[in-house]
Amino acid sequence: MTLLEGKGLVKRYHSQKSEVEALCGVDFRLREGEILGVAGESGSGKSTLLKLIAGLEAPTAGTLLLRGLPLRHRRTKEEYRSMQMVFQNAPASFNPRRTILDAITGSVHSLRGKSAKVDAGALSAMVNLPPELMNRYPRQLSGGQCQRFAIARAMAVQPDILLCDEITSALDVSSQAQILSLLSKLCREKHTSAIFVSHDLAAIRCICDRVMVMREGVVVEQGTIGQVISAPKEDYTRRLVESVLQI
Ligand SMILES: Nc1ncnc2c1ncn2[C@@H]1O[C@H](COP(=O)(O)OP(=O)(O)OP(=O)(O)O)[C@@H](O)[C@H]1O
Ligand SMILES: [Mg+2]
Repeated sequence: MTLLEGKGLVKRYHSQKSEVEALCGVDFRLREGEILGVAGESGSGKSTLLKLIAGLEAPTAGTLLLRGLPLRHRRTKEEYRSMQMVFQNAPASFNPRRTILDAITGSVHSLRGKSAKVDAGALSAMVNLPPELMNRYPRQLSGGQCQRFAIARAMAVQPDILLCDEITSALDVSSQAQILSLLSKLCREKHTSAIFVSHDLAAIRCICDRVMVMREGVVVEQGTIGQVISAPKEDYTRRLVESVLQI
């Protein structure tokens, strides 16, 4: 079943002298429980698409539908809860003056109400970290630990969709692998869907069910991992795959 759908999404940015069309009519579907990868060269509009979905930016044209109902740019609290973003730079995504536990508690109370319980033990276990680390400030953690707590913060509000923008690119290879397997395991266990934006086609192949490939603000190809990465139809995808993966 379709959980989130984008129809004809356009985003134009205006600066003093020029105009950039970051998205030129993007259609996509995210199904219930799946992880959808988004690949494409730098500047192809991947982050812009996530910003529109998260409600951080308004589309110039086009519609987003969550469970068939149109999403307005001004989101309800419930819609904010339903779609949670995880960013590339995890330490910067936390308030430096709050401990991790305070940050997660603040997010849970604002989106699920003051009476919602925050179980620090369960949340830290969920991301395979000792609970005492939650009393630290972001600067007192490694990038990989911070990213796991960013995932815990997102999962703590019980979202339907995780929006992940290059969440492993700032990490070393072993932390990357841990984050990927954690994300994949949590999505399967909690039946949470995700949109996973990455330059790393190997990571996309590893954890995603389907993938869409973007170029200059349009989707050039989409399908299952088998269809798109193992047997690309478009030249652009083939070149992208060949440049990244030795196949
Ligand atoms: N706030 C903005 N104002 C003007 N132009 C912007 C803005 N944000 C993005 N753009 C432009 O929109 C285009 C798409 O940018 P976007 O950040 O979505 O690309 P991306 O695919 O995420 O790239 P990367 O892989 O480098 O992160 C680029 O040409 C970018 O310069
Ligand atoms: Mg980006």
